[in-house]
Amino acid sequence: MKVLKITIWAVLALLVGIQFIRPTGNHSDLVPKTDFMKVNEVPQNVKGILKTSCYDCHSNNTEYPWYNSIQPMAWILENHIEDGKEELNFNQWGEYSSRRKNSKLKSIINQVEDDAMPLSSYTLIHRDAKLSEAEKKTLLDWVSKLKDGL
Ligand code: HEC
Repeated sequence: MKVLKITIWAVLALLVGIQFIRPTGNHSDLVPKTDFMKVNEVPQNVKGILKTSCYDCHSNNTEYPWYNSIQPMAWILENHIEDGKEELNFNQWGEYSSRRKNSKLKSIINQVEDDAMPLSSYTLIHRDAKLSEAEKKTLLDWVSKLKDGL
């Protein structure tokens, strides 16, 4: 019993303690010239989908949710942002080679078709980021057209 008590207190202390360690965050008010929306002629409805469902993890600016003030949630999100940006950063689109653009567009199509993106752990809380069938179709049709035009 005593061990259990000590363990519980230790876990509680740890949970309180980690609240003070915060990641610096992914913030930038600057939308660079290389941004996907500036490089491409993106229709308003597609822009909305990308901003709401993808940009939090695939750009230099995250609109942080309320749960980001609770650890370890902030770390988990920060990890997703780091990994997501590394794979695909819409803010840097203009710097990508044609070959890379082509492969990223193909990958976007695959990820969205398979419901792999946006991450389900994210849409669980961000209900508005979840793509409806209609939104998926809008996004996929437009991305396929862009890819064919490359
Ligand atoms: C919660 C964060 C998050 C959101 C939101 C999100 N992604 Fe991702 N994305 C990631 C992470 C993390 C990876 C890398 C690891 C993986 O594949 O799971 C990734 C990987 C990808 C890849 C693979 C890149 C490659 O090189 O093959 C594509 C494409 C992608 N995401 C597209 C999207 C699109 C399109 C959306 C919006 C519809 C989106 N993502 C929303 C976190 C996110």
